[in-house]
Amino acid sequence: MNIIGGYASQLLAGRVSDVLRFNLLVCEFRRFPDGELYTRILDDPGTESVTIIQSTVNDSDFVLLLQLIDACCDVAKVNVVIPYMGYARQDKQFKGGEPISARAIARCIKADNVYTINIHDPSILEYFDAKAVNLDATPVIGEYIKNMELKNPLIIAPDDGAIGLARNASKDLGLDYDFLEKTRLSGELVTIKPKNVAVNGRDVIIIDDIISTAGTMAETISLLRSQGAHEVYVACVHPVLSSNAVLKLFKAGVKGIIATDTIDRGASVVSVAPVIAEAISKTGF
Ligand code: R5P
Repeated sequence: MNIIGGYASQLLAGRVSDVLRFNLLVCEFRRFPDGELYTRILDDPGTESVTIIQSTVNDSDFVLLLQLIDACCDVAKVNVVIPYMGYARQDKQFKGGEPISARAIARCIKADNVYTINIHDPSILEYFDAKAVNLDATPVIGEYIKNMELKNPLIIAPDDGAIGLARNASKDLGLDYDFLEKTRLSGELVTIKPKNVAVNGRDVIIIDDIISTAGTMAETISLLRSQGAHEVYVACVHPVLSSNAVLKLFKAGVKGIIATDTIDRGASVVSVAPVIAEAISKTGF
């Protein structure tokens, strides 16, 4: 079985090939003078089966993924792993005249199997022609947290939409989890606090699927610190960390950032390679 790592996922592809002891194919990535992408698989992908791993953090990553899929047109079975799928947050029409961008992207991916990781909304999977499976990276994040030296740790979801992430990250590890609940006291007054557990004196890890601008996390960090949390960490599956997100997190008082390598960033301390490797092994080659 051959693994192809796209430009955006070279490290992760290398780690998956290492776990599975599969052949990692080397590709060439460069640009033509006019800026267009030139992509070439330098090693022979053969004709049997190949797994392409490429996150689509930006538009070029997406074009490059399409190029790699096309370059494998003579391979009988093509698996595509999109560890982080860009445009997934545009999963519905919010205003008239808008596209469902996640659908537009999914429809272009021609493959036998598609794997995503903690995709923003699993309903997007239906837009792929291929059999699409969403993998969960939160257990490996939980394992990492479990091994940290923390004071009475508590995993918190910043809203009820992320509570599944907090639950799965703490599952079977003996860690507590909760989510922040907004209560309206009057027309102007709202309180936001953990639904069931007090954070006072505890180390808290806020978990979300994506940290992009870090607006959500920065606000939550400040809130939990004002409520007496000891140290506050943030954890996410997808460290988009656009623009000055990291600075905003530290300005808000974060102790550390825990993220996976679905996007290769300095904060990517947890690898999803075992999660991908297990899924590929189950599907068969
Ligand atoms: C929203 O639905 C997501 O779960 C994240 O909360 C959001 O993408 C975080 O964005 P930002 O870092 O820009 O606040």
